[in-house]
This record gives sequence, structure tokens and C-alpha cells, in this order.
Amino acid sequence: MRARFRAAAAVISVIVVVSLIIASKIQNNSQTESLRRNIWRNANLSTLPADESRGERIARAAGCIACHTDLESDGEMLAGGVVFATPIGKIISPNISSDKQYGIGDWNREQLAEALINGLAPDGSHYWPALPYVAYRSMKTQDVADLHAWLMNTKPISLPAPEHKLRIPSASNRLIGLWKNQYVPKGPLPDEPIPMGQYLVNNLGHCAECHAQRGPLGSITDRSLKGNTRGPDGSNVPAITRQALMDWTVEDIAFYLEIGMTPEGDFAGAHMAPVVEHSTSYLLPEERIAIAEYLLSDINQ
Ligand code: HEC
Ligand code: HEC
Repeated sequence: MRARFRAAAAVISVIVVVSLIIASKIQNNSQTESLRRNIWRNANLSTLPADESRGERIARAAGCIACHTDLESDGEMLAGGVVFATPIGKIISPNISSDKQYGIGDWNREQLAEALINGLAPDGSHYWPALPYVAYRSMKTQDVADLHAWLMNTKPISLPAPEHKLRIPSASNRLIGLWKNQYVPKGPLPDEPIPMGQYLVNNLGHCAECHAQRGPLGSITDRSLKGNTRGPDGSNVPAITRQALMDWTVEDIAFYLEIGMTPEGDFAGAHMAPVVEHSTSYLLPEERIAIAEYLLSDINQ
């Protein structure tokens, strides 16, 4: 989990810097508003039939459980409390179990979609991008519906997650809005067709959060998977472009994502191991193959 903390820390520190720079230039966040309306104009989210067991697989693919369960302290599933230590203080993942008081048991699908796709809370405030809505932005409405069905049937945990402990004024929420205008990609929108492997890598799996290079201010402007010299804990995250994976076959990659073992017989290191353990090992075999085929395709330069 520390890997995620650091990735989030880098993103958050840049938000503060970038937002301050652009704050004087942008008068309002009307662009976020128009993007938000575009997404939902044609969506019939509330009437889609939903498949709860598929929803659990989406939760695995998207890493929801690992980020919202305090695995290190044997915390209850989805009860939150995972601490993301950042330069501006501690951001703590909330309880997203089905508890109506402390979790999200009374949320409807639209509210869940707004949180995941637009990073917006039911009261209209902005979430920190530690919740990876930049990647989830293209999440399919069917996936949101299935995810919602599963979340609403998880065990309710009546425990509040601790509040964030931030060292910055509350005005910062508006700065997140400004940052979103600048850095959240405009597309693809949720129901635009995206090949399965690409969707699992770029959107649900948010692989770029670790495998893409961060710019001088720490934000990811180019989400191609060229590796990251400023990775979690200052580590080097390898490139996983087609060229970097030249010696791997589709089967090698699929096996690695299932078991965590490389063709040379090495095991995935500290920061990739949890991704395999909590996420990619739960995918369907054909989904791992689709990821591998995408990684080895021409698009993944
Ligand atoms: C990398 C870690 C991470 C991942 C992955 C992640 N979340 Fe979160 N999530 C967070 C953090 C941190 C927050 C708090 C953001 C804030 O308060 O600004 C959050 C907030 C939320 C909220 C808002 C809850 C509330 O009470 O306002 C919901 C709902 C949510 N996440 C659901 C999900 C779901 C569903 C998934 C999987 C599709 C997911 N999250 C994946 C870290 C994560
Ligand atoms: C939390 C950060 C993180 C995330 C998220 C992440 N990776 Fe990794 N990944 C790493 C690190 C670090 C390594 C190097 C592991 C090692 O040295 O053993 C790695 C290694 C790999 C490798 C092996 C490359 C090689 O040359 O050994 C593949 C393939 C891979 N990741 C694919 C993915 C895919 C696909 C996703 C998204 C589903 C993903 N990773 C998400 C951090 C991450």
C-alpha cells in the first residue's frame, strides 16, 4: 500500500502547486460542469439491469477493496481508514461499505458514478485524486451499475473512518476543481467503445498511476506506460510499453498478472506484488490475455 501512498502524494503535491499557479487565471470551473453534463445526458444508468457478482470483479479490477480496506491492521472489508500520507497531511480513505450511516448504503447509482467518474461528492464538493477518478473517467455505466449492486450488498460496517488531517485551509477544495480542469483528460467518455485490454489497463486498472512518467510538477501529463524514475518510495518502475516487453509473450504477461512470476522465474517486487495479489489475479483468464495483448500492441508505444 505504501506504493499507492507515494503515488497519491505526488499527485496531491502537484495539485497544490499547479492550482495556485492557475488559480489566478481561471475564473470558474464551468468546464468541469459541462463535462459532467455531457457524460450523463444520454445515460440511462438508473434503469440498467445489474449483475452483483460481476460487480465484485469490477471492484477487484479497479482496486477498490485494497484502497478501502485497512489490510495492514486487519480492518473490516471496505471500512476505509487507509492512510495516504502526503505533504499536505493525511488523506484517509472513507468507509464505503453498505452501512447507511457511516458507509455509502444510501447512495444511488448516479451518486456513485459522479464520485468515480467526475470525482464529485453528493454535495458537489471535489474529491482528492487519491481516488483515481482520472482513470475511472471512462468507466462504463454498466460497470458502475454492477459495482453499485455489489457494494450495496457488502457487509455494513458501522464504524466511521477517521477524518482527513490536512494542514491546508478548506478553500483547497476549490483548487481541486481548478486542477481537474487542467489535468483530467476530456475523453474517452464513459460509454465510448474502448477495447477490453486498453480499458482494463488505462481505466479500471489505473496502471499509469505507477507506470507513467511524472512531469516536473509530479502530475502525469503523458499517460503512456514508459516507466517512471520517480516511482513509489523513489523507486524505478519499469516501462511496460510494447518495446519494453519485447522479450515477453502474451502468455508470459498473462501468467505474471495471475501468479506474479516473470519468465526468468523472479517474483514481482514490493510495489507490483499487491497489484497482482488483490487485483489482476482475480481477473478472468481472457481479461489477463486482453491486457497482455494490449500491452504488446502497436497502440502501447
Ligand atoms: C488508490 C486508492 C483508491 C482506489 C483504487 C479507490 N479509492 Fe475510493 N477513495 C479513495 C480515497 C483516498 C478517497 C477519499 C477522497 C477524498 O475524500 O477527497 C476515496 C473516496 C471514495 C468515495 C467517496 C465516499 C464518501 O463517503 O464520500 C467512494 C464512493 C469511493 N471512494 C468508492 C470507490 C470505489 C467503488 C472504487 C473502485 C472502483 C474506489 N473507490 C477505488 C481511495 C481509493
Ligand atoms: C503501485 C504501483 C503499480 C501499479 C498500480 C501497477 N504496477 Fe506494474 N509494476 C510496478 C513495479 C514497481 C514493477 C516492478 C516490479 C519488480 O521490480 O519486481 C512492476 C512490474 C510490472 C510488470 C513486469 C515488467 C518487467 O519488466 O518486469 C508488468 C507486466 C506490469 N507491472 C504490469 C502492470 C499492469 C498491467 C498494471 C495495471 C493493471 C500495473 N502493472 C500496475 C508497479 C505498479
